[in-house]
Amino acid sequence: MTDPKVQHQTVILDGRKTASEIKTEIAEEVRHLKSKGYRAPHLAAILVGDDGASETYVNNKVKGCKQVGFDSTLLRFSTSISESKLLHEIERINNDDDIDGLVVQLPLPEHISEEKVNDAISPSKDVDGFTNENYGRIVSHDISILPATPYGIMELLRRYNIKTKGQHCVVVGQSRIVGSPVASMMAKHARSTVTLCHIDTLDLSFYTRQADILIVAVGKPGLISGDMVKEGVVVVDVGTTRVSDEEAPRGYVIKGDVIYDEVAPKASHISPVPGGVGPMTIASLLLNTLKASKQRLNIHI
Ligand code: GUN
Repeated sequence: MTDPKVQHQTVILDGRKTASEIKTEIAEEVRHLKSKGYRAPHLAAILVGDDGASETYVNNKVKGCKQVGFDSTLLRFSTSISESKLLHEIERINNDDDIDGLVVQLPLPEHISEEKVNDAISPSKDVDGFTNENYGRIVSHDISILPATPYGIMELLRRYNIKTKGQHCVVVGQSRIVGSPVASMMAKHARSTVTLCHIDTLDLSFYTRQADILIVAVGKPGLISGDMVKEGVVVVDVGTTRVSDEEAPRGYVIKGDVIYDEVAPKASHISPVPGGVGPMTIASLLLNTLKASKQRLNIHI
């Protein structure tokens, strides 16, 4: 007989461990490709300015390349770079046959249009999956390059054998980078029933309480409390907000959108922040770069 007082064990959706497994698989494939005489996949990253968070993200991407045996090139520009010079650099990389993937770290300075920059990247090198063409491909048959963070979320769910077909997935946040594409992918690829909410949704908890799978990508620490979810929910927290904390070694801590201590005891599965979706985004970027490289070099092994 089961003791009703014994609580279920919440499974942590460990993005660090899963990303590390994916990197091991990629590294193996890269070794195999090199043994057949092919060059290593090559990722270029553009960083404009000296924002601390962006610098950390870009460094982690370059580090990820090293870990799997990719080549990488980091191009740094000062905040004063003009939009036309940046677009010119992107065009140069688009035409460089030795480069397979390009990421331009966001945010960009105000005088540069992120939309123009994103759409200047060749869709075949757009390993973040930010271009309108790759966004549109989510709902087409050719799904080789997927937006990196949503792709990471899907991989995390898949590798933890989370049932998605027919489940009610509630997404909170309608951003172009995460909320909107992940909602499309949960509906189209994972065959879930999807409700897409945002921060202004009236009576948000009415929707979140119905979720079998709850994906939150708003950037508002404390948004989702324990009373807003049902028992057994699968929770994916995409929030990463720096919150000042004088006692933390760096003077800040990274907070998700979910009040972890309240929600985790009710959840069947939950992704922590940090160590959940973040590392999966980089793993997806590397997977996309590998795919882009194989397409460029016409490799079918
Ligand atoms: N800024 C915040 N997240 C991302 C990301 O995934 N890619 C890029 N290029 N910039 C970002």
